[in-house]
Parts: sequence; structure tokens; C-alpha cells
Amino acid sequence: MTADLLVDRISLLLTMEPGTPGARDAPLGALEDAAVAFLDGKVAWIGPAGQGPDAARVLDGRGCVALPGLVDPHTHAVWAGSRADEFQRRLAGASYTEILEAGGGILSTVRQTRAASLRALTALAAARLAGMRARGVTTVEVKSGYGLTPGDERKMLEAARAVTGGPRVVTTFLGAHAVPAELRGRRDAYVAQVIEEQLPACAPWAEAIDVYCDRGAFDLDEAVAILQAGRALGLKVRAHAEQVAYTGIAAAAAALGATCVDHLERLDPAGVAAMAAHGTVAVLLPGAQLYLRDSAPPVAALREAGVPLALGTDLNPGSSPLHDPWTNATLGCLLQGLTVEEALLGMTRAAGQALGHPELGHLGPGAVGDLVLVRSPPGEPPSAAALVQHLGGAQVRAVVQGGRLVAPPGAPGTGRDGQSTDIAIA
Ligand code: NIG
Ligand code: FE
Repeated sequence: MTADLLVDRISLLLTMEPGTPGARDAPLGALEDAAVAFLDGKVAWIGPAGQGPDAARVLDGRGCVALPGLVDPHTHAVWAGSRADEFQRRLAGASYTEILEAGGGILSTVRQTRAASLRALTALAAARLAGMRARGVTTVEVKSGYGLTPGDERKMLEAARAVTGGPRVVTTFLGAHAVPAELRGRRDAYVAQVIEEQLPACAPWAEAIDVYCDRGAFDLDEAVAILQAGRALGLKVRAHAEQVAYTGIAAAAAALGATCVDHLERLDPAGVAAMAAHGTVAVLLPGAQLYLRDSAPPVAALREAGVPLALGTDLNPGSSPLHDPWTNATLGCLLQGLTVEEALLGMTRAAGQALGHPELGHLGPGAVGDLVLVRSPPGEPPSAAALVQHLGGAQVRAVVQGGRLVAPPGAPGTGRDGQSTDIAIA
């Protein structure tokens, strides 16, 4: 076999597959002095450094940790406009829900997003997603939810899918994100529009359906009706659940077969039990917890019940303007009590599971060919803990997506004989 790409001499490879031959440190599947070969977009071989197949290109992993390409399972990366003013109002004491109920917050982004063209939205999303990929994200979930009409919701999903040259994009329809200003006080009419008009227009552009079931947004019955309608059209189910007020949506969505439920700051024991019973992944969003100065979800209870824990940035212009998955991992540990291992699994394997894509977020023969090569901060040996300990300290050296080196320019390369080679970016 001649591989397309070989990443050789990796100081520490974390496969996220505990069963990797020779690996230690379950559940991360750690191998020292290892190599990974890619062929036809997939992982073709994993083994000891220096023993890999011939390859058209070789990357030098010395001094680096390699992980599967990162998966961000929850973002609102398509939007127009700014809410920097809202940030200042919240610093001065206004609450997120007060601002939303007064027509700001999400509704302010809705006004600005409706006014933007498909082309402008695509360019904005592309710039944000390019930033994420440079940080190692190779798959990102992107939601609608700032359009709130059939045409504007579809425009957002089209924009997300039109982004080229960035991470793999998985789209989610979130028409039920807020009641738009023009239907204020007529929630029934808006729920009917979501189900009867938005869903048929948007389902072909989305893989999943989401709802924001909360105070100031949609109630449990409305949320369940919307999720059921989406599921009937073949969409995967997920929900913004138990964030500001407890509603019971986590358990209800789990019972509907949700792949994940997200936020969970106010999750109760019944919700934990339902998620465990249905195999629903918990997507933790420490950025929103930090920015809203909220309390943590019940991580210990979720762990105890065996619920998989994923980590998302929730990148959006209001509650979580957080662009960096490494910072997010550190926040997950410090604010929510994750272990280093849980944080790293949460941004890889568990995040793939949250999206209903179990082929993502781990490295083994046949897995998707995504890998990030990262250095610990200066002076730290290559280790899982050092990557997470330093807030924003991880230094991404190279990103491989679909078996191709995609970032950054000047990634470190050597030939099999140890001679330096000049590796062009594919
Ligand atoms: O996941 N909580 C509701 N929705 C988003 C916030 C979006 C926004 O503030 O624009 C969230 O936090
Ligand atoms: Fe969100």
C-alpha cells in the first residue's frame, strides 16, 4: 500500500478507542511513538513510529499529541450583526431572558440575519468556521434559528451548507428558537407555521431538528409537537433542554429517540434516568454557563448513570461567543467538573455520537480520516492533561480532514529518512 498521507513519529497518539492494540490509558487509547496512515479519506493503518507504509506525503509528529479531528456538536455559527451592546447590558445586570422578552437577544440577531443576503451569511459563516478549523475542528454542527420564517430559516441552512473549504458541516433546523416579533402573543400561530411551513421548506437542508424549550421560548407540549413533526420527516431529534427553567423536555426528547439533549443546567434525576435509558448523549455547553453566570449541570449524576458527555462551544453572538474548542475543554473541567479524559472524549468521540455520527471522533482502521496534531504549551511535555490545563495554550500544528492535510500552512514535514521535506497544503 502507498498511503496518501502518513503522520509519523507522533509522541502521543490518543485514538479515543480503548481497544487499540497496544494502547494504554482507557478510555483514550493512548499510544506513544506512533504513526497513522490515511488512504482514500480514511484511516488505513495505525502502528509504531517508523513502521508505517510508504506515503505520498509524510508529516512529522515529533513533540506533538495527535487526536481525532475535533467535533463541535452545537453551534449557531450562521448569523449577521453584533450583540456587543447586549454583552454590556448583561455586565450591568440585565438578565438574558429579560432581554429576550423585551425583544432583544435572539430577536435582535433575527432582525439582523433576516436583512442579510445568502451570500453575506455564507461569507460570515465561512470566516467563523475557518477559524474553528484552524483550531482543529473538522466537523461542526450548525443550526438555523435566527430566521424564523420559512425563507429565512432555509436561507440560514443553505448558507451553512454553502461554506466550502472548512470543516464538515452537519445542519440542524431550529425554527422553534424564539417566537418572532410579528407573532408576539400568537404562539399557536407560530408553532403552526414551524410545523406546516418551515419544516417542509427546511427539512431537505437539515439532518436534525432542535427546539428551544424554555421560559421565554416554547413550552413542553409545543416543543414535543415540533420534534414529532420533524422526526416524522426523518430528522434526528435534539433539544435545548433545561437551561433557564426546568420544563421536562430532556426526558421527553430522550423518549422520542433524541441523539442528544443540550445545556441541562436544570436537569432533574428523572431526566438523567430517561437519558441513560435511551442512550441520549448530554451536550454540555460551558460557554453559555460562563457568559450567563449560571450554575453547572448535574455532571456527577450523568456520569454515575453512564450518560455519554459531549462538549460543544454553542458558538453564537449572545449567550456563548466562544470560538475555541480548547478553551471550551478547560471550562468544561473547571466550571462543570469534567475530568481531562471526559473533556477530550467530549470534543471527539462523544460529540460524534451526539450528532448520530459514530464514525467520527476516533481513530482506528476504517474510521474517518480526521486528525489534529497539537503541541503542549512551551515547556510542557506532550500530554493530555497539559493540553487542557492551560487556557488557550494548546498549539495546533496541523489538521487533517478526510485524509488530506488542510491546515495550517507550513506544517512540519519530514521524509521517511528524517530529511525535511516541503509539504504543500493540498
Ligand atoms: O444555545 N438558549 C438558546 N439559544 C442559544 C442562544 C442563542 C443566542 O443567544 O443568540 C443557546 O444558548
Ligand atoms: Fe444553543
